[in-house]
Amino acid sequence: MPVLVGVDPVVGVRSVLGGVLEAVQGWLEGDGAGALVVVTRGAVGVGGGGVGVVVCGAPVWGLVRAAQAENPGRFVLVDLDPAGGSFAEVADVVVGSGEPELAVRGGGVLVPRLVEVAVDGAGVGVVPGVVGDGTVLVTGGTGGLGGLVARHLVEVWGVRRVVVAGRRGSGAPGVGELCEELRGLGAEVSVVACDMSVRGAVAGLVEGVGAGLVGVVHAAGAGDNGLVGSMDGARLDRVLGAKADGAWYLHELTRECELAFFVLLSSAGGSVLAAGQANYAAANVFLDALAVQRRAEG
Ligand SMILES: NC(=O)c1ccc[n+]([C@@H]2O[C@H](COP(=O)([O-])OP(=O)(O)OC[C@H]3O[C@@H](n4cnc5c(N)ncnc54)[C@H](OP(=O)(O)O)[C@@H]3O)[C@@H](O)[C@H]2O)c1
Repeated sequence: MPVLVGVDPVVGVRSVLGGVLEAVQGWLEGDGAGALVVVTRGAVGVGGGGVGVVVCGAPVWGLVRAAQAENPGRFVLVDLDPAGGSFAEVADVVVGSGEPELAVRGGGVLVPRLVEVAVDGAGVGVVPGVVGDGTVLVTGGTGGLGGLVARHLVEVWGVRRVVVAGRRGSGAPGVGELCEELRGLGAEVSVVACDMSVRGAVAGLVEGVGAGLVGVVHAAGAGDNGLVGSMDGARLDRVLGAKADGAWYLHELTRECELAFFVLLSSAGGSVLAAGQANYAAANVFLDALAVQRRAEG
């Protein structure tokens, strides 16, 4: 993987994914034997701890997970320690493990496992007054989940100002009813047509909300499913655009705002059941990585 420090993530993600996609497709056109090991460095968040990730490299994990799901046994993912060390030092362990994905940290080789997590209820449920009189922006608010989130914000969180955005804006089906319902609950609602894959459009959207912006929910996304062999730059773009690029633009353009929350609607489809959705899995893992990175940055 090329060095990615200082690279615009929107460009960097295309560059890395394009290279990996070519390698994956080339491997699948080969003799059908053995596994290709795809190696990244610092692209995976391991166990929290406030350590950031290389957001440009992270989506590789989504794309390769799809390739793995479609072609069992043909690919292995390894994330090397950001602090240093070479693949050669762990090659024997990796190959001998039979595991599809591994991360090397502090000289040890880690594998992912589902574990039970205790939830104490803190941070869950109603947070009265968390946004005061401020405005919450819901991208993809004209769609299914975004609309549900907008309703929840107004009904449960008591949010009084909501901007819902989507590619078609008020032309999207059901938006009139959504607005009516939210207004009936006492909220001010605006609907904005905005293509989240275009930085200038997102800048206009954020600027339009103005200084009152106190929360962001990014639920914009679009799909374009197909096996990894059928993926190309255009198909990656189609799915990365609204979801990953849009998230990055929001991240950059709201950096100076005093936000109470910045929520990204990712999907388990970045980690499991990725077959037929290499582009979607890549976009979701980008969002996961951005969340880890934002946390690490405080
Ligand atoms: N539904 C699920 O079960 C599920 C599960 C896990 C994660 N998610 C994630 O949750 C998010 C919302 O899913 P959903 O089921 O609510 O999808 P949806 O009903 O299809 O809504 C998608 C929304 O995104 C907007 N959008 C698409 N491309 C856009 C672009 N380029 N610029 C601006 N807006 C754009 C759509 O507007 P237009 O219609 O005008 O294009 C629509 O408002 C997605 O990111 C999805 O991956 C969904």
